[in-house]
Formats: sequence, structure tokens, C-alpha cells
Amino acid sequence: MTNRDGPGSASFDLANLTVDAANPTPRYRQIVAQLRAAIDGGTLAPETRLPPTRALATSLGVSRITAVAAYEQLIAEGYLVGRVGTGTRVADAPPHPPARPMAPPDSAEPAPPLAPFGAALAATPLALPFEHGPPRLFRPNVPDLRLFPARLWVRLLARQLRDGDLGLLGYGDPAGLPALRATVAQYLATFRGVQCTPEQVLITGGSQGAIALLARTLLAPGDTVWMEHPGYPDTAALLRASEMQLAAVPVDDDGLRVDVGEALAPHARLAYVTPGHQMPTGASLSQERGLALLGWAARAGAWVLEDDYDGEYRYDGPPHPALQRFDQAGRVLYLGTFSKTLAPALRLGYLVVPPPLVEPLTRAQTLLVRQLPTLEQAALAAFIAEGHLARHIRRTREQYAQRRGALVAAIRAAFGERVIIGGSAGGLHLVVWLATRTRLERIVAAARHAGIELRTTAEYATEGAVRPGLLLGFALAEPDELRGGVERLRAAIDHLL
Ligand SMILES: Cc1ncc(COP(=O)(O)O)c(C=O)c1O
Repeated sequence: MTNRDGPGSASFDLANLTVDAANPTPRYRQIVAQLRAAIDGGTLAPETRLPPTRALATSLGVSRITAVAAYEQLIAEGYLVGRVGTGTRVADAPPHPPARPMAPPDSAEPAPPLAPFGAALAATPLALPFEHGPPRLFRPNVPDLRLFPARLWVRLLARQLRDGDLGLLGYGDPAGLPALRATVAQYLATFRGVQCTPEQVLITGGSQGAIALLARTLLAPGDTVWMEHPGYPDTAALLRASEMQLAAVPVDDDGLRVDVGEALAPHARLAYVTPGHQMPTGASLSQERGLALLGWAARAGAWVLEDDYDGEYRYDGPPHPALQRFDQAGRVLYLGTFSKTLAPALRLGYLVVPPPLVEPLTRAQTLLVRQLPTLEQAALAAFIAEGHLARHIRRTREQYAQRRGALVAAIRAAFGERVIIGGSAGGLHLVVWLATRTRLERIVAAARHAGIELRTTAEYATEGAVRPGLLLGFALAEPDELRGGVERLRAAIDHLL
């Protein structure tokens, strides 16, 4: 069992793989660790064909499920490509060095047995590293928290209690504080053209809380979901762990290829889309495609989950109109979050649903979540009603527009015609598209060597290859810092473009 099928001069012999039954580390993780180390160390060369899971299982004396789990973990991490069952090989551009450890540290205690959903969640690798700590240059998709109106926020929070409404400390409406639902409805009508009553607004634990709620209430294991490709991996991961089938629907400059979606999975139950500023490409869904999507959903009786995560930030021309306002058939679930306009840690988002879904989703949220923090909801309602949110968005939009302008100009000056800038009309990041043959992992490694952490479109792949691109966030840094960063980036990666 050697890797003679692969090109190059790799010298790792798969017969050297071992599994130690006495080791408390799960067996599939023992296999993962050895293969990962061999790929990282260059002894298992790109494109080397791996043995079928059945043969691997037999040779190691483990179950086939263990071998499958090991391959799937490495496929999810980008080390291997292919599908289990149809041939698996080392990726031609495996990540190097590993972005971060994907699994919790080994412990002497064997892991407790989990139910299938728990086990699936625990085994789901996160495509995007969990970044926290101080702002980092080019980090995409996060607002500049230095602009957060902290003193005003503290005042508003304190006022809620000072005003003596002790009801705010008790149990509240699981669908959200009525005052907040009303102000959000008003806000959405004004800023996003979303048509709804306050009752149709459900306050959720950010977007992720809403997506999790919908995955448990509207979808069943085995259901097919259209997922943008490339697309937002945290949604894909949750749906996969929930045993949904993902139809990877490609995205181009006009957003989702609805025609391909219909051909791939005409009977899907739900389409997850980011029409305003597609995550990650930044494309806007054309009106024609949007109407085609709504037409399909109405005919198929499918839901469209419109994730409008950064729709407030548009720099060229008017805001991209929300799909929800064109929905005649009541198929759109409109999702928004305060993670980008205010702060991710608020964990407050909103879901606008057609009237028949209000009651069942409220029931579900009652039992799954109980309610969201009421004081913060009350402070936020006051923040919006008193015009502070509109002001804050205006202020941050001006800042981000300047930063975006500086970043675009610096990229043009540094890389000229060798790259194409995409998705810069809105949001908090843009994409630098590279020539098709560019080896992303080399670019990432060279940039990291120069102290610059980069996210790439490959991390957003729903299935298979993606057009190589770098995601550059511009919200976190001042124009000068961005210009300096691009200069350092140019010095680090120029020879690889
Ligand atoms: C596509 C998309 N949706 C939603 C979110 C925000 O998630 P949350 O509201 O859970 O913080 C993000 C954040 O990065 C995102 O990229």
C-alpha cells in the first residue's frame, strides 16, 4: 500500500500508518494526525491517491466507518479531495501550514458517547478559524469596534433599569421584546424596504441562532438545501451536521445561478442565499435572478432564506433591494443581524417570517432558547427608536467607504492588471481575484511569513474547487494602515502572482 500512484517523489509509505487500540485518542483521529503530518511534512505528495476506505480499514484493523471518518475530516480540512467511495487523493494544494488545530486537545479521558447529532456537531470541522482578540489587518466581515458608541450604550442599558421596569428582569416574550420587534420592523421598512408587521419579526441569537432554529423546524434529515458555492461555511457546516443534503449551486458576477440550482435540485426544501453582497464573492444577485429564485420557490413550495448580513453597507449607488419585498408567495425568510452594524457580541439578530410561521417558530424558540437577553433588547429598541442606529450606520459607512477606497487604490497600484477586484460595492470586505492557476496555499504561506493572515475563497468552498481569490476586509484599519499592509503583501507575494 504505497503512494506510487501519485506524481512527484514522495516517500511516505501508507503501510507505516498505525492505530494504537490502547491510545485514548479516537482511532480516526490517530489516522488523521498521521496523514496530516505526512502531508504537512511533504512526505505524502499532492495528488497522491489514497487506498479505498475498505482497504485502509482492513489493513489497520479498524472499522470502515473509522476510515471514512478520517478521510472526511481531512477532506473538510482541505488536505484531501474527492468523495469517499469514489477515490480520494491528496489535494493538489493542501493547506500549509495547518490553519489551526481543528479538534479539541487530546485528553486522557475517553470522549463520552454522544447522540448522532451531538457526534456530528463535535466532528464538524470549522472551515473558518475562530478569530478573537485584537483587530487584525484585512480580517473580513467584522465591524470596527472602536467605533461602537460604548458610553451611549451603557447609558441606555442603565436607563432601562433605572426607569424601574422590573419586568425587564423577568421572563419575557420568546419571540423578542415587543418594543424591539416594532422598531426593527420600522427600521427594516425604512432602510431595506422589507415589508412586515412587528409580529412577523422574531428576535434571534444572531444569524446563527436563526439558522439553527430554521434547520430544526423547517428541515428534516435528508432534505436537500441549495447552498451557494462558494458560500458561508458556518451555515453549510450546521446543515451537514443536521444530515441535510447540500446542493452546491455556483455563484457568478450576478449571484446565484438559479438555473443550475433548478437543474441540480428542483425539489430542494430551502435555498440559502446572500443576495445583497454574496458571501464571500461580494456579487449582488441580479433582479432577474432574484425573480427567478422567487418563481422557483413558489412553484416548488421551497423556502428562500435571505441572509442580509451586511446590507446596510453599500458604497456605490443605492442599497441592493431586499428579495423579501418582491415575495408574493410568502416563501422568503429574511434574516438580519446586529453583528455587523453594531457588535457581534450582542448576539442579536432578527428573522422576518411569513405570518403562518410566527406561532410555530415562537413555540420552537420558547423550548430551544427561552428568550434573548431582555435588557439588551430594550436598550437596542431605544437605540434604534432614538435615531442612534441610523446615525451610527451613517458614520461607520462613511469611515468604511474611505477605507475601502484606500484599499482598492492600493491594490490597483500594487498589483495592476494581474488581479481583479470584486465585490467592493458594499459590505466589509472585497475579493482580490487571482489568475486561475495561482496556488492559494503558497500565497497564504508567504503572506503569513510576512505576518499577514489571509482568508481565501477556498475556505468558503461548498463542494469542490473555487476560483482562487483573497478576501480582504477593510473595516478594521485606517487608510494608512491598509496602504502599508498592501505594500507588505505585495513584497511578500509579488513573485507568486
Ligand atoms: C453570511 C453571514 N451571515 C451571517 C453572519 C453573522 O453571523 P451572526 O449574526 O451569527 O454573528 C456572518 C458573519 O460573518 C456572515 O458572513
